Amino acid sequence: MITRLSILGLPILLGAALCCTTAYAADVASPDGRIILQTELDADGRPTYSVSFDGRDVIAPSHLGLLSDEADFITFSNATPGSVSSHDSTWQPVWGEFASVRDHYNELPVRLTTADGKQLDLIFRVYDDGVAFRYHIPEQKSVNYLTLRDEATEFNLADDLTFFCIPGDYDTDERLYVKSALSKLGENMQLPRHSESSLIPGLAMQTPTVARRDDGKLYINIHEAALKGYPAMALEADTARLSLKAHLTPDRNGVRGYLQAPFATPWRSIIIADNAPDILASQLILNLNDPCAIADTDWIKPMKFVGVWWEMFIGRNRTWAYSDKYNAKPGVTDYASLPSNGRHPANTENVKRYIDFASENGLDGVLVEGWNEGWEDWAGWVKNRQFLFDKPYPDFDVDEIQRYAAEKGVKMIMHHETAANAADYERQLDTAFRFMKEHGYPAVKTGYVGMIIPRSEYHSSQWMVDHYNYVVRKAADNRIMIDAHEAVRPTGISRTYPNLIAQESARGGEWESMGGNPPEHTTILPFTRLKGGPMDYTPGLFVTDLTAYGEGATSKGLTTLARQLALYVTMASPLQMACDLPDNYRKYPDAFQFIRDVPLDWADSRWLEAEPGDFITVARRDKNSDDWYIGGVSDENARTAEIDLSFLEPGVKYIATIYEDAPDADYKANPQAYRIRTKKVDSRTRLPQPIAPGGGFAMRLIPQH
Ligand code: NOJ
Ligand code: CA
Repeated sequence: MITRLSILGLPILLGAALCCTTAYAADVASPDGRIILQTELDADGRPTYSVSFDGRDVIAPSHLGLLSDEADFITFSNATPGSVSSHDSTWQPVWGEFASVRDHYNELPVRLTTADGKQLDLIFRVYDDGVAFRYHIPEQKSVNYLTLRDEATEFNLADDLTFFCIPGDYDTDERLYVKSALSKLGENMQLPRHSESSLIPGLAMQTPTVARRDDGKLYINIHEAALKGYPAMALEADTARLSLKAHLTPDRNGVRGYLQAPFATPWRSIIIADNAPDILASQLILNLNDPCAIADTDWIKPMKFVGVWWEMFIGRNRTWAYSDKYNAKPGVTDYASLPSNGRHPANTENVKRYIDFASENGLDGVLVEGWNEGWEDWAGWVKNRQFLFDKPYPDFDVDEIQRYAAEKGVKMIMHHETAANAADYERQLDTAFRFMKEHGYPAVKTGYVGMIIPRSEYHSSQWMVDHYNYVVRKAADNRIMIDAHEAVRPTGISRTYPNLIAQESARGGEWESMGGNPPEHTTILPFTRLKGGPMDYTPGLFVTDLTAYGEGATSKGLTTLARQLALYVTMASPLQMACDLPDNYRKYPDAFQFIRDVPLDWADSRWLEAEPGDFITVARRDKNSDDWYIGGVSDENARTAEIDLSFLEPGVKYIATIYEDAPDADYKANPQAYRIRTKKVDSRTRLPQPIAPGGGFAMRLIPQH
């Protein structure tokens, strides 16, 4: 049990005061005093921390430490806490869910010294919405390089919380969530492990994960922030002890990281709240990242786009490759001489049709996949692979497309599928970005499908973390925005580099064609994956029966049409695709109007009700007008959202346009049944809003000044 020590509301320290013994204990409280973090050196000389919230334990005493070949930072003979400092400021994100964010915390540093005189610092921060800590290896004579073998960080839970998590894996986050009490995780999370599997041995989960206590009075999200120069962290689960332990992705030689002092690790973060909506509102992870490092950000612009993309997923016998001559010549091939297979949609004429559609509907951009040489070479999982990022296929006239897009006021989005050959991508990066600049592309979707080359690495290992960050920095130098697919899960880096405008790094909308995303999936993602940064989920699926196309797709989308509109609001992102085919949107122009209207950048966000795995209702105010938008989704159950509009400006009437499931809609039986109606509302209105099973709703509220 943690006892709270404070004088005049300020945290005080025990410790140095304990004099000549090696023991220390220090307390630091959140600005509002509800969260207390206590840290001490235990009887074995191991540093621990524990956390309480409103007087009740959340994290029981849990070990901290790092193990390397050069220094054993597991046990210490001495610990000296520094003094607690307070910090309170606000900052303005370039884009996001709020126009301004408050960063308010108390910080406690502790210097640890080993028996052989080596030093490690712990830095603790306690906010009103959670705690965070990191390791800092100071510059010192006896520690220069570290070959990192393990991180001892534990999160020992005081209660058997119910977790929403995906399995620990070095290479992928594209999985469905498991809901389980931590004690029962072994029964509920079982996966086949094939020979190429990069599932973490034993029982482990990825972060971010969200968990709740049975009494509904505690919700936590465990993740990390500012992942740089270090491997990503997963969590090993000990279900008997209710303990989670950091598991860092190794390289294939078993080394977790090569560090050079001075070095600060990423933050380990625990968002803490007494209700679920406050987990969604927390800005803790962004606050833990460095401020924006880009001086002039005028060129960073939210984008709504369509793409030559879904055609390939739904089959229709379309291919990314220009020719069917797979592996015609291994290595760099003379692709241009290959015969066309006649089924290649990344051709000038087809791309112009997408540009026309974007232009007619006020959409910002068009993405084209399969435009460049190399797709023929991508036949196998582990073969040598090379794409050429400055070589369009013969039927893709890059100059003409540039001219046409400019004439129509549409921006082109480049696609760089690296097939996980990151080493080769780095070699081509200057050329690739130069080619983009020459042809007027402001943004690129990158991709890392397959096993990483160099083969010593995984998607979440240190070398790859450095790679993604390098690409983002290089892109910033070139004024290019990045949308990274299959990259390591985000950790708020987009605060520092807002040109990292979105990532995939979770199971996205494309999976509707490969088994479907059960409705609860998108009620969980905002609590987990989205805490690290926006997702290129690719919503906007209007024709949900994908099997009707006859080829390719093997499943029906597990969603109603109205729900797809809601996702633009519940899964906020400055980069949003309208994923479906232009012809499908032309069939439903009234519903498509919401996609045309919905903003991508917000002044304010209010989560009106939310429960992971069940439902989310959020209202957001446009950054560029006084309009409010509301989105709501349910799981597989029908429900009625109770919308309290008291956040609206008092005394002002608003016209609400409501896009909702028709009364007989159902995500399996009748997914395309929707209705659009208008209603006069004001700040006193309480609006009951029905949602179909697997459904949702979207609203635009325009003030009548
Ligand atoms: C996987 C990406 O998530 C998807 O959007 C893309 O189309 C394919 N890779 C091909 O690059
Ligand atoms: Ca993907």
